[in-house]
Amino acid sequence: MRKLNIGLIGAGFMGKAHSVAFANMPKFFWPAPAMPVFKTICDINPRIAEESKERFGFAEYCTDWKEIVNDPDIDAVSICTPNNCHAEIAIAALKAGKHVLCEKPIAHTSEAAKAMAEAGEEAKKDGVISMCAYQYRRVPALELAKKFIDEGSIGRIQNVRATYLQCWSADPSSPLSWRFKKGIAGAGTLGDIASHVIDISQFLAGDITEVVSTIKTYIEERPVQEDGVDLLGTVKLGADAKKAPVDVDDEDLFLVKFKSGAVGSIEATRNAWGRNNFITVEVHGTEGSLYFNYERLNELQVCFSKDADDRRGFKTIYTGPAHFHGEVTWNIPGMNIGYGELKTIEIYEFVKAIVEEKQPSTSFAVGYQVDKVCAAVARSSTTSQWEVVK
Ligand SMILES: NC(=O)c1ccc[n+]([C@@H]2O[C@H](COP(=O)([O-])OP(=O)(O)OC[C@H]3O[C@@H](n4cnc5c(N)ncnc54)[C@H](O)[C@@H]3O)[C@@H](O)[C@H]2O)c1
Repeated sequence: MRKLNIGLIGAGFMGKAHSVAFANMPKFFWPAPAMPVFKTICDINPRIAEESKERFGFAEYCTDWKEIVNDPDIDAVSICTPNNCHAEIAIAALKAGKHVLCEKPIAHTSEAAKAMAEAGEEAKKDGVISMCAYQYRRVPALELAKKFIDEGSIGRIQNVRATYLQCWSADPSSPLSWRFKKGIAGAGTLGDIASHVIDISQFLAGDITEVVSTIKTYIEERPVQEDGVDLLGTVKLGADAKKAPVDVDDEDLFLVKFKSGAVGSIEATRNAWGRNNFITVEVHGTEGSLYFNYERLNELQVCFSKDADDRRGFKTIYTGPAHFHGEVTWNIPGMNIGYGELKTIEIYEFVKAIVEEKQPSTSFAVGYQVDKVCAAVARSSTTSQWEVVK
């Protein structure tokens, strides 16, 4: 079986997720399209780099990503660093002929996102794959939603209502990690989580062409965090800790128009107490509706207008073996998959794309399209006008 030497850069939260997924992929998907080999892991923090070599089972570790990009034995690179490093690493890796899976958002600036999309298109000519890690569109229940839409089961889409609500940053004592610094993250909630629901909305209903938005920053300064790893609100710093300003958004609200003529609304915040990973999408069509909530990710609710008046309403479909990649995970609907299996499906799609030399559905071009919507949302929050996605 073909082997694929992996170099993973950034050994934090996503470094763990990608490592687990590469290890689990052949356990679910057998025969695997290729066998991942854990060659080198890189983290700028030497302690994390050394520890994660042991922990995730890599043969070697390094603290400079260029060692991975320049290693002729490495076939594919996973980029799991904060957003400001994505473009430099991805473009260098693609130029070196490595297949690249890069975490979202694609980049921290529009210029960097454009350069990455161009590098992805260039690399494509040589059969080199570029992929953005928008994994949520691969939730089996959302793949099922897409199937209903494509089959015409809910008619023409009129409205898409999407939210991504979390609460991990609602506490002002939650530290000023890289996610609250524009120079590193590029944006706050907008790039971090609104980008996911923009991708899901475009996956289901096609491209967004215009937006009008309001953006708020509720907590304007936070306690300074020394370490580079984002603690996602799990650690609180005391009231006496030194504070520094936040220069990114906490909450984004926007109306959208789709190319198809459909309209919609998107809300994203990391400051909604009681909401954890509350990604919801409700799609209203001329002949029915669909509803999904990631906190119940193995379920899709469907309602069809053709049902008799006295029994029309949402019914719940539990995803399982009959659904997207369900035959390889667990045998019975209701046994359920979670985030780990979802990242494993993503890695399978990445490795399959490499072997089949076919760009995945979340190529850098798609990541760039999401970035363009984010840029229009940011523009509209200052002009208070509808802004065209360009
Ligand atoms: N797809 C998803 O669901 C999802 C979820 C969380 C994060 N993300 C994305 O993944 C990326 C990483 O986020 P995270 O939560 O894992 O962050 P993290 O803070 O947990 O980890 C980042 C790691 O990268 C290391 N690092 C920083 N600069 C580096 C460099 N130049 N070279 C090598 N290592 C470097 C840090 O030391 C740290 O260990 C971000 O782009 C983020 O938006 C995606």
